Amino acid sequence: MARTSLPLALALALALVLASACSAGAKSVPGPGCTCAKGVLDCANRNKSFLRPSEVCNGATRVDLSHNRLKMLPDGLSSAEVVKASDNKLTRLPTPPLLNSNAKILVLNNNEISNTSRELSSMVSLERLLLRRNRITSLNFLPQPCNLRDLDVDQNSISSLEGPLQNCSKLGFLSLGTNNITSLQPNVFSKMQYLELLSLRYNRMTFVQDDAFQGLSGLQSLLLSDNQIASVSQFAFRGLRQLQRLYLADNELSTLPAGVFAHTPRLQRLDLGRNQLTRLPADLLSGLQGLTQLFAPRNRLAALPDLADCCERLEQANFWNNSISAPSEASLRAVLRPGGAARLDLSANPIRPASLRWVLREADLDAHARRREPRCGSLQRGAAAVELCVDVPCGKNTLVSDWIEAVRITTANRS
Ligand SMILES: *[C@@H]1O[C@H](CO)[C@@H](O)[C@H](O)[C@H]1NC(C)=O
Ligand SMILES: *[C@@H]1O[C@H](CO)[C@@H](O)[C@H](O)[C@H]1NC(C)=O
Ligand SMILES: *[C@@H]1O[C@H](CO)[C@@H](O)[C@H](O)[C@H]1NC(C)=O
Ligand SMILES: *[C@@H]1O[C@H](CO)[C@@H](O)[C@H](O)[C@H]1NC(C)=O
Ligand SMILES: *[C@@H]1O[C@H](CO)[C@@H](O)[C@H](O)[C@H]1NC(C)=O
Repeated sequence: MARTSLPLALALALALVLASACSAGAKSVPGPGCTCAKGVLDCANRNKSFLRPSEVCNGATRVDLSHNRLKMLPDGLSSAEVVKASDNKLTRLPTPPLLNSNAKILVLNNNEISNTSRELSSMVSLERLLLRRNRITSLNFLPQPCNLRDLDVDQNSISSLEGPLQNCSKLGFLSLGTNNITSLQPNVFSKMQYLELLSLRYNRMTFVQDDAFQGLSGLQSLLLSDNQIASVSQFAFRGLRQLQRLYLADNELSTLPAGVFAHTPRLQRLDLGRNQLTRLPADLLSGLQGLTQLFAPRNRLAALPDLADCCERLEQANFWNNSISAPSEASLRAVLRPGGAARLDLSANPIRPASLRWVLREADLDAHARRREPRCGSLQRGAAAVELCVDVPCGKNTLVSDWIEAVRITTANRS
């Protein structure tokens, strides 16, 4: 017995030492207890369905309750300026006095919040409110007056923007993506002169009316992709003087009205991919001197838009998989000029070889093909060497110019 009890006592002592070492180191790893230090209540990742009052430190200014199973917030958060409780099972928005009415940041992504009324209307200090992936149907709960800078309500079931949102005149970031919005009522954004990014992607909009974004004089990015937009009015983007990025991909556009981008002179990136565009007005891009990225893959365009009248800084133009049979020489020459586009993608278009004879002649591609060299030729244009590559079906023993199926043009300054 004596022979076993000594090791047992040792083992016990050792276990105690280990246990105390563990609890000393437990502060930073997820565990059963919450921690309080320097005004921070850290209770994230504790798999808790409720908090005992003793676990909520008095006077905490920053509170993290993320990744638990909480159905409601605990008492005792009345000093918190920052409250994070994403990934819980909250069904209602918290209200003061449960919440400090001077709180600045509230992060409640990925909960089950539905039926809202005016819960946050007195939270006038709130600057950042993140409510992604909940079940919110209306924005009636927003603070009044509203001093929000960031509002993210992506992935909810919002169908109307009516109400206090219109008074959130300090917003810089507004994300309304993946909701149930079918139309924008007039003037909804009219006070938001500081807004830089507006996302309406993945909604159910079918048209964009004149002056839909009136008031957004500082907007830089507008995301309208993944809707069912079939028509855009001529003055839809009026007032967007600072707009740099416009995303209209994955809609149902068959054309765009002439002059629709006349009000967005600073556009740098335009994405029209995966619509049903069959034609574009000749002067669609005229005046867009800052355009660097132009995307229109997977449409049914029969012709390139005029690239000679814009696009001095074009870096990338993508017309993959359209119905272009004869790209206009003026547009191609504009792209091929020194310092012109770095990349023009015309692959998966039914290009008629005859329409490109002049390029092939200048690039001497036939000679390359006869020598069965890589199917690229270069075209000297001032200081720039333009490289032009064509894809030829395998096994065709003929001149490359008769078998162009796809053309990819890249230019590179090799001075
Ligand atoms: C969280 O707690 C529940 C209920 O006590 C339990 O069933 C579940 O396994 C726990 N999850 C984790 C990740 O510990
Ligand atoms: C939301 O409100 C509806 C009717 O107003 C009610 O039937 C439903 O139970 C409520 N849901 C929650 C989660 O409170
Ligand atoms: C979207 O709104 C329509 C009515 O406009 C409604 O029938 C539908 O249930 C809503 N969908 C969601 C996901 O809220
Ligand atoms: C916007 O604010 C004004 C003045 O503060 C107020 O009268 C109006 O009711 C508010 N509008 C909405 C939709 O809440
Ligand atoms: C081009 O798009 C059409 C549908 O518009 C599709 O059927 C076809 O396979 C695409 N071509 C390529 C090369 O992917």
